[in-house]
Amino acid sequence: MYNFKNAVAADLSECLKCISSEIQLEKHDILAMFEYPPDSTLGDIAFPCFKLSRILRKAPPMIAKEVAERFSSSVVSRVEAVNGYVNIFVSNDYLIKNVLFEIENKKEKYGSDFSGVGKVAVFDYSSPNVAKPFHIGHLGTTVIGHSLKMLHEFQGYECVGINYLGDWGTQFGKLIVAYNMWGSEKQVEENGVDELVSLYVKFHHEAEIDETLNQKARNEFTKLEHGDETNTKLWKWFVEISLKEYQKTYKQLGIEFDSYKGESFYTDKMPAQVEKLRNSGLLKIDDGASIVDLSEYNMPPCLILKKDGSTLYPTRDIAAAVYRKNTYKFDKCIYVTSAGQSLHFAQWFKVVELMGYDWYDKLVHVPYGTVSINGEKLATRTGNVILLKDLFATAIEKVSEIIDEKNPNLPNKEEVAEAVGVGSVVFYYLYNNRIKDINFVMKDALSFEGNTGPYAQYTYARTCGILEKSSGIDYNVTSPVITVPEEADLLKVLSKFNEAVTGAIKDYEPSIITRYIIDVCGAFNKFYHNCQIATNEDINIRNTRIRLTNATKTVLGTAFGLICMKKTEKI
Ligand code: ARG
Repeated sequence: MYNFKNAVAADLSECLKCISSEIQLEKHDILAMFEYPPDSTLGDIAFPCFKLSRILRKAPPMIAKEVAERFSSSVVSRVEAVNGYVNIFVSNDYLIKNVLFEIENKKEKYGSDFSGVGKVAVFDYSSPNVAKPFHIGHLGTTVIGHSLKMLHEFQGYECVGINYLGDWGTQFGKLIVAYNMWGSEKQVEENGVDELVSLYVKFHHEAEIDETLNQKARNEFTKLEHGDETNTKLWKWFVEISLKEYQKTYKQLGIEFDSYKGESFYTDKMPAQVEKLRNSGLLKIDDGASIVDLSEYNMPPCLILKKDGSTLYPTRDIAAAVYRKNTYKFDKCIYVTSAGQSLHFAQWFKVVELMGYDWYDKLVHVPYGTVSINGEKLATRTGNVILLKDLFATAIEKVSEIIDEKNPNLPNKEEVAEAVGVGSVVFYYLYNNRIKDINFVMKDALSFEGNTGPYAQYTYARTCGILEKSSGIDYNVTSPVITVPEEADLLKVLSKFNEAVTGAIKDYEPSIITRYIIDVCGAFNKFYHNCQIATNEDINIRNTRIRLTNATKTVLGTAFGLICMKKTEKI
């Protein structure tokens, strides 16, 4: 609809100037005034005349009537005046040339306006803490972060995805002590992060009984900080073991990072920033600690150095941001974390501003709500947290059961079960406004009915099935014709793809794409149920409908990729 609106706005601007020289509305003014009628039978776009009423000293319905009578445009089929609105209907010719042909020409690039070309966007997301569970709390940062990256990439941004691993801190001292006391190399190799987490948990239990363990852990961490060979080797191994496991989950989601530079990487980059803070007079000593006072901005102080001189989470984030700015020259640097960290980001963003870095306004924090799980208990070995890999495994298992029951001869059963299972979790999660708290109900996520991932994937597979049956038909030989409203409605929905993309980027809201996918599926399924497609006797109609099916497949396929959902040709 974006191009349609543009074309209509240009023509309407001319028309209004002809009606009265007092109306000085340019194309972009009109574009901003357009609305979508609540019901498509009223029109495809509506132009409200209320603001013109004062200028022309006439009632809005009168103005609307006059405009409707005088307005004509090659892209419009019908114009009606209703209650002060000019309702405008798009022509079928426009839909064919500017939507169907556009999709066919641009293919998987359709929907992009390339507004990001020449710009760099950095994404800091997923970023689990090594040797701590990678749990459902990380689902949001991982899938929202990756969707935002995909969306920006689609618009032409050069994107850098960074997994800012929590690979530094006193927990490594604890882990080293625990490993030396109770660990076994074989078990860590075999059980990966689970084993590291158990060691970590055991450390906490034992430390409650034996206080001295904490001091031992601090000593081991200090040794690590000073480059002790044995501890460095152990630390590297712990990170490696953890990464190997995270990568399995990333693979299921189709996620690859451009950088795994975690917190440890910034150890030697912090002193320069602390110096700068000190030199600019921003550092205050408070009870021995170094802080930046933010009371003027209604925020608690930002902690830079602890009493003992050690650095903190904000210190590292500041150093990392400076490094990234210098390395990538970003136009935006986006951080996706739970809303629980909003204050942390507001604080250190402010500190970056106070330090005089003029790019402070290019830092964006994208927060999201909490996830809770209802109903079924998912098995974990770590007590009450639910691991992401277990959540995916459960979903995959359930989908496998459904496939075995309904379509036992399906080829690549495992691949399909993984795409649909993982996709169902992602889709369910991303269907909600990101800031809302989510109650995860596996049964709902896996349902093939309703606004779910399996429903969307089923619809995609349906388009593939129709196209497979039509293979051998050269459907491009005839000129497309639109004969029923279902066809036009489908093209109208497909025409809104770019608007969904720009909206999702503007609000950092992948749910706009998820909901758009449901709109496309709805329009396609209505078309599918009401219209004979590949078997239609009229060749012109049949060919048009196959092309519409193909266009739907293209848009759905692209949109799935934007929300990290894999597609599958058969279910
Ligand atoms: N590792 C942190 C956690 O799990 C998230 C890191 C977010 N990114 C950042 N630059 N602070 O809570």
